Amino acid sequence: MILQKLFLIGLLLASACASAETIAVIGTGNVGMALGTEFAQQGHTIIYGSRSPLGLKALDLAKKTQGDASTATPSAAASAAEIVVLAVPGMVVEDVVKGLGNLAGKIVIDATNPLVMDEPMVFRYGVATSNGEIVQAAAPDAFVVKAFNTISWPSMISPEDSEGPLYVAIAGNHPAAKEKVAGMVTAMGLVPFDLGPIEVAHWTEYAAVVALNNQFSARQNFELVFRATD
Ligand SMILES: NC(=O)c1ccc[n+]([C@@H]2O[C@H](COP(=O)([O-])OP(=O)(O)OC[C@H]3O[C@@H](n4cnc5c(N)ncnc54)[C@H](OP(=O)(O)O)[C@@H]3O)[C@@H](O)[C@H]2O)c1
Repeated sequence: MILQKLFLIGLLLASACASAETIAVIGTGNVGMALGTEFAQQGHTIIYGSRSPLGLKALDLAKKTQGDASTATPSAAASAAEIVVLAVPGMVVEDVVKGLGNLAGKIVIDATNPLVMDEPMVFRYGVATSNGEIVQAAAPDAFVVKAFNTISWPSMISPEDSEGPLYVAIAGNHPAAKEKVAGMVTAMGLVPFDLGPIEVAHWTEYAAVVALNNQFSARQNFELVFRATD
């Protein structure tokens, strides 16, 4: 599996160099770190959008990210990028997107889940529709792609630790944007599958509520996995 991933990265790097892009990763937590470092390995230039762009955490992350990675405020990062990744807490994503400025024509990858914790370690689904739809409505001229929200951050970095291929559900209204994101998923050693338009994003977001509640009640790491069956 490791060899397979290296081979895929090599293969995709060759074509990716022709289409290396600037990617703004908004949020410097676990998912921002996992996706930022992975996308950098694909030849993209990463700008971490952080509320504290000069803080040690963001600067440290940029330093350990391959290539010419840097930090900026979220809006400065987004305006310099062709692709914007949302890796912030799910219940603030609408406000975060509205603060990013004009996202028209950009691919916006939404990795968030609308999780609310009313009591310790018990989660519920926090919105009426889905974060995917909320993000698309907040940035109507952006190409929003829901992706990566069903997979844990360690699996984003090391899919080979899983006992089989890990599928990443993708949803969105723009076929070309989904195709681009699917290529990035494949280059990580993961398997993309297209679920449909952004209106189905809640299917995938709800999976996170189920996974987390199981994880905490069973007191062991738990992830809901999509997998092909023969
Ligand atoms: N953890 C997982 O395995 C996983 C997997 C798939 C999807 N997700 C989803 O991905 C999102 C990020 O998860 P995570 O585990 O990376 O969370 P995290 O470790 O808490 O990181 C979130 C980051 O967002 C920024 N942030 C925090 N509060 C904010 C606020 N009020 N306004 C704006 N930015 C804020 C912070 O970066 P700065 O301080 O630099 O601004 C923070 O480091 C969540 O929606 C989660 O549901 C998580």
